[in-house]
Parts: sequence; C-alpha cells; structure tokens
Amino acid sequence: MSLYRNTVWFVKGMREYTKGGYEAASKHFAAEDLQTDVTGRSYMITGANSGLGKAVAQAIAKKGGVIHLVCRNKERAEEAQKEIIASSGSQNILVHLLDISNPKEVWEFAERFKTEHRLHVLINNAGCMVNHRELTGDGIEKNFATNVLGTYILTTALLPALEKEDDARVVTVSSGGMLVQKLNVLDLQFENGTFDGTMAYAQNKRQQVILTEHWAKAHPKIHFSVMHPGWADTPAVRSSMPDFYQKMKNRLRTEEQGADTVVWLAVSPAATKHASGLFFQDRKPVSTHLPLASTHSSAGDEETLLQTLQDMSGKFATASCNL
Ligand SMILES: NC(=O)c1ccc[n+]([C@@H]2O[C@H](COP(=O)([O-])OP(=O)(O)OC[C@H]3O[C@@H](n4cnc5c(N)ncnc54)[C@H](OP(=O)(O)O)[C@@H]3O)[C@@H](O)[C@H]2O)c1
Repeated sequence: MSLYRNTVWFVKGMREYTKGGYEAASKHFAAEDLQTDVTGRSYMITGANSGLGKAVAQAIAKKGGVIHLVCRNKERAEEAQKEIIASSGSQNILVHLLDISNPKEVWEFAERFKTEHRLHVLINNAGCMVNHRELTGDGIEKNFATNVLGTYILTTALLPALEKEDDARVVTVSSGGMLVQKLNVLDLQFENGTFDGTMAYAQNKRQQVILTEHWAKAHPKIHFSVMHPGWADTPAVRSSMPDFYQKMKNRLRTEEQGADTVVWLAVSPAATKHASGLFFQDRKPVSTHLPLASTHSSAGDEETLLQTLQDMSGKFATASCNL
C-alpha cells in the first residue's frame, strides 16, 4: 500500500466525496437530465433493501419504472418493497431473494428471471466490506464472492436479456476507494499476508472497473458504466467503517445524494451520450487513476482476471447457462 496514494486520495475525498463536494458538483447538474418518464422499462437493483440501492429504487419507481429488488433477506426486502410502494405510488415493485455471494444461486436466479421478465437496466449495487477473512459455503473469500464473482455471473447471465432491448444499460456501483489499488491477480482471494478488509474491498472495486471496460468492448449494444457515489451515510459505512463514520458523519452525503449519479446513469438520455465503459462521479466521467499513482494494469493481468472469473463461474453453471 502506498502512503502517497492514500494521502492524495483522502485529500481528494475531503474535497469531492463529501456532502460539500456533492453540493459544489450539483450546481452544474442539468435539471432536465432527470425529467424522464421510464414507464414500461424494467430495472433490476441488487442490494435494494437499504442505503443507496433503496434510494435508487425509490427514485426510479417514481419515474414509472418496473423495479426488481434483488435482496438476500426476505423481511428486509419486503419492508423496503412496502416503503417504495408507499413513496412512489407504484405497485410495480417486485422482490427476488438472492444471496449474490452464492454463485450457483446467482446462475439459477438469472436463468429463471430471463424466462419470466424483460430487463432494460441492471444496477449492480449490492456490495460488502467484510473486515476479517471469511469464506462462503463454497470456500470463496466473502468480499470477492459478493463484489466480483457474483456481480460477474449476474451480469454475464443477464446479457442475452439485455441485448434484446433498446437502450439497455448496466450500471455498477464501485467506489473511489479503488483508486488506491492496482489490479492484483496473484492473490484474488487474499490468501497471503495479513488480511485487510478495506484493501480487499478496494481491490474488488478496481476489478469492477476493469470488468466494466471489458464488457463495454465486448457488448456494444449495451451501455455500461461504473461509478463512485461519494461518501454517503448508509448502514454499510456505519457498520463496516465505524472509525471513518465517527470522524466523517457530519460530512457524509445523504443516501439520495449518493444515489444521484446511479439514477442519472440508469435513466437519463444524457448519460448514454458518453461512451460505454467509463467511470463516473457526480454525473461526469472521471479518471480511473490518481495522478502518478502507478495503478495501471497490464492487458495480460486483465485477461487473467477475466479468465479466472470465467473458469470459476463455469464450475457453478448448469448446462443451459450463458457461459
Ligand atoms: N455508502 C458509501 O459511502 C459508499 C461509497 C462507495 C461505494 N459504495 C457502494 O455502494 C453500494 C451500496 O452500499 P451502501 O453504502 O448503500 O450500503 P448498504 O445500505 O449496506 O447496502 C448494501 C446492500 O448490499 C446488500 N448485500 C450485501 N451482500 C449481499 C449478498 N451477498 N447478497 C445480496 N445482497 C447483499 C445488502 O443487503 P443486507 O441489508 O441484507 O446486508 C444491502 O442491501 C455498495 O456496492 C458499496 O460498496 C458505498
């Protein structure tokens, strides 16, 4: 870990990722960008029972979209569903139960979903920062299983459904934290050295950016974007980063402010005027690297990441899956 990268990143974060950063950036937002009616279009949002995911679901439901909430806990999901129905007045809010860290379940869910529903926009929002090294039932490191492998399988499996639709989009909620990490394909599941949950998370979020760049090249009919929501006051920040939360709680964005760019990328015609595959912050494409940070990865390492994900995901796929 580089002290230089961490310092530059934190100074940047204090200026740009806070509530103040959002207020400054939002002075340049075009109000008409979000004045769009998405009635009849279908949106899948993972991790939609709380935080940014729920705020995104609420905003898109108010614009008429059919909302598929993909959550792992029935009670929390149904609670959010009720809240979104009440706040939007829309009944088109469906709940699907799925643990994204379980690759077999992700394949099965996606295969079933495609036979029952249409999909215009996938929002890969579910994420975690588990601070001790924990393995899933399949023996996969939990952060990697959720943030990377699950996201990879869900997106891969849903590509055929998205490809059938006009103006299909995939938005992945990454994190500015990824700026401190260079892709490391030698230890994707953090088996070596002392485990650091913050660094594992940042490495996963870097991998999401690389996956988005790859998907954009491979699937030109779909618009892919990946983004940083800023630092927002959500359950994940409170529970996974308690020290950061205590220091920063008065400067954090609201959930709606954190969700703003996700909603913009998912619904606005202005978003797809930008090329596919870019990294966004406050409705603008921004660099995926800090200045002089040496975080660029080689084509070979990116290929290794993709091949590893393809091999791992293949082990959990059934014959009908879109490998
Ligand atoms: N808040 C920020 O400042 C910030 C900054 C940068 C990036 N992000 C990213 O924003 C996204 C949303 O996070 P948030 O801050 O809004 O936190 P949050 O409120 O805790 O939301 C995370 C969501 O992901 C779900 N989730 C986690 N693991 C899952 C699994 N295995 N299967 C299905 N769902 C799972 C959670 O479900 P449960 O409720 O069941 O746990 C929850 O609904 C994450 O990808 C996070 O990395 C947030």
